[in-house]
Amino acid sequence: VQRGPLTGRHAIVTSGPTHEPIDPVRYIANRSSGAQGRAIAEALRDLGARVTFVSGPASVAPPDGVDVVQVETAREMRDAVEAALPADVAVMAAAVADWRVTNATDQKMKKDGSGQPPALEMAENPDILAWVSRLGLKRPELVVGFAAETDDVVENATAKRRRKGCDWIVANDVSPDSGVMGGPQNTVTIIRETGADSWPRMPKADVAIRLAREISEVLQ
Ligand code: C5P
Repeated sequence: VQRGPLTGRHAIVTSGPTHEPIDPVRYIANRSSGAQGRAIAEALRDLGARVTFVSGPASVAPPDGVDVVQVETAREMRDAVEAALPADVAVMAAAVADWRVTNATDQKMKKDGSGQPPALEMAENPDILAWVSRLGLKRPELVVGFAAETDDVVENATAKRRRKGCDWIVANDVSPDSGVMGGPQNTVTIIRETGADSWPRMPKADVAIRLAREISEVLQ
């Protein structure tokens, strides 16, 4: 175990996409690889934190030296975060599905020959970040969210920070030509109550190291 400025501190990191089942073989997902979340968990671990890493079905493997909780759906992720509390810091890097399918079937859906596609009914998933941010006594001292935006990145993320009630938002531009989703680099802007701080484009590992360092400064 590494010793460092976060020794004795507990961090919860959510990461990866969630999968929302449609039937036993199909699901709704998104393009999150889990790479940025994994890098953050590693960076917090390397500063001495005990890390609970709650991950959806990511395409990158979870890091060593952290407590890994693997989940599939948004609701499982919320329950895993709740079970991991209390924590000093929560970093919600997961790309949680906004909606789940409420008429998912126990058996594989089949074409019925009518030419009519099935209608999926959906309900909104719990917003884990907003829920953690408003926990009251159990709220981590620092709550960090992400905002994957394709347009008006800073404006949208600033509004999102307020709406969600978290302390910081790491805003990233995930428009298709940015290459961020699934790629090795990230271009982020950190939104705090006091303003926006744009970092240069850098490897996701460096974003994680810098973020972990700033987290450790706040928790000193
Ligand atoms: O609203 P949006 O999905 O853009 O917010 C992104 C932030 O909120 C991320 O930090 C993500 O992990 C978190 N989130 C969450 N639960 C949801 C939706 C998003 O924790 N259901």
